Amino acid sequence: MRSFSFSPATSSKHIIFTGNLVNMSKTILITGATSGFGKAIAEKFAQGGYTVCICGRRQERLDALKASLEQEYGVKVITLAFDIRDRKQVEDAMNSLKEQVTYLDILVNNAGLASGLATIDEGNIDDWEIMIDTNLKGLLYMTRQIAPMMRSQAKGHIFNIGSTAGKLVYKNGNVYCATKFAVDALNQAMRIDLLPYGIKVTEINPGMAETEFSLVRFKGDEERAKNTYAGINALQANDIADIAWFCANLPAHVCINDLTVTCLTQATSVYAIKEAERVKPVN
Ligand SMILES: NC(=O)c1ccc[n+]([C@@H]2O[C@H](COP(=O)([O-])OP(=O)(O)OC[C@H]3O[C@@H](n4cnc5c(N)ncnc54)[C@H](OP(=O)(O)O)[C@@H]3O)[C@@H](O)[C@H]2O)c1
Repeated sequence: MRSFSFSPATSSKHIIFTGNLVNMSKTILITGATSGFGKAIAEKFAQGGYTVCICGRRQERLDALKASLEQEYGVKVITLAFDIRDRKQVEDAMNSLKEQVTYLDILVNNAGLASGLATIDEGNIDDWEIMIDTNLKGLLYMTRQIAPMMRSQAKGHIFNIGSTAGKLVYKNGNVYCATKFAVDALNQAMRIDLLPYGIKVTEINPGMAETEFSLVRFKGDEERAKNTYAGINALQANDIADIAWFCANLPAHVCINDLTVTCLTQATSVYAIKEAERVKPVN
């Protein structure tokens, strides 16, 4: 007998055929889903019944995540392993995606990194190029592939993961901050350009969050990465996934354009205190 599954969390309107299973589902594509925010967002939306397209360079992590999401939530998972800095790889991956899905509800432009932490006169130019190519050009390559698809659907939702570093520059953050300021500008530009097509554009700007971000920034130096979060009850990847889920489930006429989120003891990218500095209640 044919079975029909419908998740109440996903008020969908298109149908995906999977073998003889007819599964009504929404579809989300997430870049940088092998770790941190991207992985947590994939888990959250899979739990909500979405078909999930997960991207990253590390195929073995994509395979492991696919297996666990399929087993836990019974959803369809598509893996796309590519380097987002390489325009041809992005184009090939998106062409392969378009053969597998005909409708995309959500794109999450999340893949990104900080590489190094140094003054402008001493910065490593290779680090600069990696950050510009990943955080900025990679995001543009992806958007250029997916925006026309959403335009023809006259519907869709693009999330851009910015940063508090894209709102206020901090010492030694120069090029990383510049890429995130650019994401902030592009988020505004996308919102304007895509306005006639019913496409929502939402920028989520997290502050300090405990992911592999610092490990990557400090090139595998675990001690230094751990110290970044010492004495701080930092954001966790799940916090950002919950916020993305909230933004994606607002009424059709409501769009959050720009959202900055920090842990309790961080006010801006330059001003944070430790938990121990918090004032205790008088009684
Ligand atoms: N954690 C924070 O404190 C923080 C705060 C504000 C904003 N952010 C932003 O949040 C986003 C996610 O970072 P995260 O904290 O979740 O860090 P993370 O745990 O290191 O995850 C980064 C993800 O980006 C992917 N990625 C990096 N370079 C890539 C490339 N060349 N091609 C394809 N994928 C690539 C990685 O996948 P592969 O290595 O498998 O390719 C990984 O899945 C980034 O844009 C970051 O700038 C982070």
